Amino acid sequence: MKLILTGFMGSGKTSVAKHLSILCQLPVLEMDEHVLLKTGCANMQQVFDQGGELRLRELEITLSREWSVASRAIISTGGGVILNKVNLDYLKQGNGKIIFLNTSFKTIAQRLANDNSRPLFNNISEAQGHYDFRLPLYLKYADHIVDADNKSATEVAQEIYHTVHHG
Ligand code: S3P
Repeated sequence: MKLILTGFMGSGKTSVAKHLSILCQLPVLEMDEHVLLKTGCANMQQVFDQGGELRLRELEITLSREWSVASRAIISTGGGVILNKVNLDYLKQGNGKIIFLNTSFKTIAQRLANDNSRPLFNNISEAQGHYDFRLPLYLKYADHIVDADNKSATEVAQEIYHTVHHG
């Protein structure tokens, strides 16, 4: 089984992936972590400082291509992965299922209020712009949509587990 978690920054992909990994007995591939490994950067701001957003998008494509051959994994993507359709084409290879963690902007803004680790969430009105632009893309590419507002990561993971096992 190959599950690909998508969603905006702060939708809980990383935490949900950890819970799903235990439930499904599958390893997690965390895209942001591998971007840092490939660049030798300590955090995302450094990646942006070195090569701008474009460098991040290139690395996402490289990783998606590499992970096209993974057949048993929970893949936790970066929030911008849906900006390049080719990423989803690669990641879906090997019967991958895309699960969108649907979260309102209000919830996200609350969760990330004191978090400055995300270069594209430094300005709230720009972040809202990214959200509005991306929402139709997340919805369009999803095989399953899970409402992730007002739920713990464990609850979201359990819901996904049941959805993929029982339809
Ligand atoms: C980004 C999301 C981040 C990270 C980078 C850019 C985005 O990942 O890849 O800061 O464009 O949405 P998370 O969704 O894991 O926060």
